[in-house]
Amino acid sequence: MFEQTFLMIKPDGVKKKIIGDILSRIEQKELDIIAMKMFQITRELAEIHYEEHRGKEFYEDLIKFIISGPVIGIILEGEDAVKIIRNLAGKTNPKEAEYGTIRGDYAFDITKNIVHTSDSRISAQREISNFFKKTEILNNIK
Ligand code: CMP
Repeated sequence: MFEQTFLMIKPDGVKKKIIGDILSRIEQKELDIIAMKMFQITRELAEIHYEEHRGKEFYEDLIKFIISGPVIGIILEGEDAVKIIRNLAGKTNPKEAEYGTIRGDYAFDITKNIVHTSDSRISAQREISNFFKKTEILNNIK
């Protein structure tokens, strides 16, 4: 299915200087980057993004970490974009993520797990509208 998804390089991915490697892995897939920016997430926006995790024991650490430094937000578009990008990222828990995936290759910690990716088309649309204005997204790039 032709769809959009959202990938965020978290503060640990930016600090480790692996932005280029993550982008080149993304570019090897048949997906188009239709928006990309570096920004600092406010606490307010972090709470909106991670609303579903509010109240869990790891929630506060997750919020503190995601606002601890700049992130890169990327919107991708193409056939089965959500699944392709989730497979590229690997399992959420780096201990379970396979080698060859971004988390399997770079992450050691479930909070500092290098990237966030949307888990469905609906989440993708919600996350895209949380982080991007309509004018920041390319249309009809083909
Ligand atoms: P992310 O894809 O950003 O979505 C929610 C985040 O919560 C997830 O990556 C992890 O960083 C974090 N997370 C999920 N489950 C746990 C857990 N059991 N303990 C700590 N952090 C978690």
